[in-house]
Amino acid sequence: MMLAAIYVTVMGIIFAKTMCHNLLMIPGPVEFTDTVLAAAGGQPMSHMDKSFAGQFGEAIELLRQVALTKTGQPFILAGSGSLGWDIFAANFIESGEHVLVINTGYFGDRFVDTFEAYNITVTQVHTTLPGTPPSLLDVESAIKAASVPFKAVTITHVDTSTGVLMDVKKVAALVRTLLPSALIVVDGVCSFGAESLFFDDWDVDFVLTASQKALGVPPGLCVVIASQRALSVLDARSTSVPSYYANLKKWLPIMRAYEAKTPAYFATPPVQLVQALQVSLLEILRGSDMAGRFAHHVEVSNYVKDKVESWGLKLVTTSREAEAHTLTAVYLPTGVTLPDLLPKVLKQGVMIGGGLHVNIAPKYFRIGHMHISSLNTSLGHIDTTLSAIQAALLETGYDVQKQMAEPEWVPRGKSSATGHDEL
Ligand SMILES: Cc1ncc(COP(=O)(O)O)c(C=O)c1O
Repeated sequence: MMLAAIYVTVMGIIFAKTMCHNLLMIPGPVEFTDTVLAAAGGQPMSHMDKSFAGQFGEAIELLRQVALTKTGQPFILAGSGSLGWDIFAANFIESGEHVLVINTGYFGDRFVDTFEAYNITVTQVHTTLPGTPPSLLDVESAIKAASVPFKAVTITHVDTSTGVLMDVKKVAALVRTLLPSALIVVDGVCSFGAESLFFDDWDVDFVLTASQKALGVPPGLCVVIASQRALSVLDARSTSVPSYYANLKKWLPIMRAYEAKTPAYFATPPVQLVQALQVSLLEILRGSDMAGRFAHHVEVSNYVKDKVESWGLKLVTTSREAEAHTLTAVYLPTGVTLPDLLPKVLKQGVMIGGGLHVNIAPKYFRIGHMHISSLNTSLGHIDTTLSAIQAALLETGYDVQKQMAEPEWVPRGKSSATGHDEL
């Protein structure tokens, strides 16, 4: 029986790895490890099984370590990153209250839409130039100009549509000085687990993310972490939470029970995805410490950006200080279109993304580089991707060689600071 189960799992992995698998180098979902794949395809198990409660509880504890918080309360729910917007709007802001959205692109627009669906008044700070973040001065002016103090300020840590990185540390410090009791919210869908984020030290209140990016798990989980300040705001609401499934008052006792390794039920969790998350978090934390993981992402991101610039291409981000380390957004050379380039890259077994920002979408492509694709150089994902893009560009008639001035890069071997094979 046991042998049969192992056989089925191994065959499943081989099948999944070999059939129809293009190297996935979009900015999420991303490639994940074989152990995560095995956990995600695991045997049926009851969500009320005591051993599952143990795994769920461990995932909660490990999330605190990844977020670098001692007191933040993680919640793991079936859903995607977008559910995190609903959770924040429904639980922490009441109808008619005001929030400030620092909007760096496509996903900031969607956070605004979510607030509006709950009748919440939104002020926005954004720049008109895609690829450029608003300045601290813009944020300060918006806060000072507001007739009613904002209940919350939201920051998209990495805008996946353009690759803009916001300096969460500096924005959070500014907001805390000007609005000491405001909730500081980080959309970390394209950053959490890869970009520097120190939940307690930076005094943020709410981080939302999803399983399919730097956490290295298939899509299907929404993960949020709320500070104790945020939980007291939830407690002090004068109106009821305008959501059933997304009501954290229903989920808090469930998360606490799981953390105490006791099964509990409000709605059925996606058992195998939670198991996959627990496995992935263990792998992440078994590698370098979080600061080391953040630094690896910076190193690989710089390599990718140097390389595409050496081909004479222009990045969408307009300054190195404000560029994400989880993806690179690159303008197409004149005369080359997305329908021309992307299939040529795909033909070589690599999938990269097209543009997403409404003003410039047809003009650029995006390369995701997070989690194992960034950290485990022995997999060769980065160089395979760059070679595929280079060859595809040549095929379109754009002469990469002519522009080349190779950046110097010493790849980290298998025995790098991560210390194990997969990460
Ligand atoms: C920054 C950001 N926020 C929110 C989302 C929405 O997440 P999901 O597609 O998992 O609902 C995404 C998706 O890519 C994102 O990149």
